[in-house]
Amino acid sequence: MKFFIDTANLSQIKEANDLGILDGVTTNPSLMAKEGIKGNDAVIQHYKTICEMVNGDISAEVISTDFAGIIEEGKKLAAIHKNIVVKVPMIKEGIKAIKWFTDNGIKTNCTLVFSAGQAILAAKAGATYVSPFIGRIDDSSWDGVQLIEQIANIYGVQGFKTEILAASIRNALHIVKCAEAGADVCTCPLDSILGLLKHPLTDIGLAKFLEDAKKFA
Ligand code: G3P
Repeated sequence: MKFFIDTANLSQIKEANDLGILDGVTTNPSLMAKEGIKGNDAVIQHYKTICEMVNGDISAEVISTDFAGIIEEGKKLAAIHKNIVVKVPMIKEGIKAIKWFTDNGIKTNCTLVFSAGQAILAAKAGATYVSPFIGRIDDSSWDGVQLIEQIANIYGVQGFKTEILAASIRNALHIVKCAEAGADVCTCPLDSILGLLKHPLTDIGLAKFLEDAKKFA
């Protein structure tokens, strides 16, 4: 399973990348706004910087909702760097645009996916990635991980090549559950990635080893 970080924050991207286990980055308009990035040039420059920092797929989201606008915006984003993946919302115009990008060799991430039916459409259009938002599904008292399992089953049975990118991860357990359920990628906040490190017995065991090491140092 690949690990992406879900942020536009450069220091968090650096910290995750320094671990040596980072395969890519996902962003969205809310995450970009959180970093105070304003204006088209600043947005493009920010994506360039991320592409230079991380050697992997970098999702950059369009904000147009009509076919022509999505295509125009997506082409500009894709021109920034070979690793840019154009992130397109799961809407009718978005599906048409994903098919166009697929036919023109541009990688896509179909975002805002909340059902298996939507995931089938994304795969039919040839999306490189499909992003089910598991945390937001859990928030509405449905089971986000169960959706990952269902999509993995459908894609396996049907032979779809689209990769399942579990998004809206809220904690380390989500990552473990998504790995079990067959996600190809988890895009996570830094805290959730670092949460995987934690176990009290590791800390207790290390403290004891270091204490005992003093006896022969
Ligand atoms: O990038 C999309 C997704 O990961 C958003 O997560 O926490 O805003 O539901 P969240």
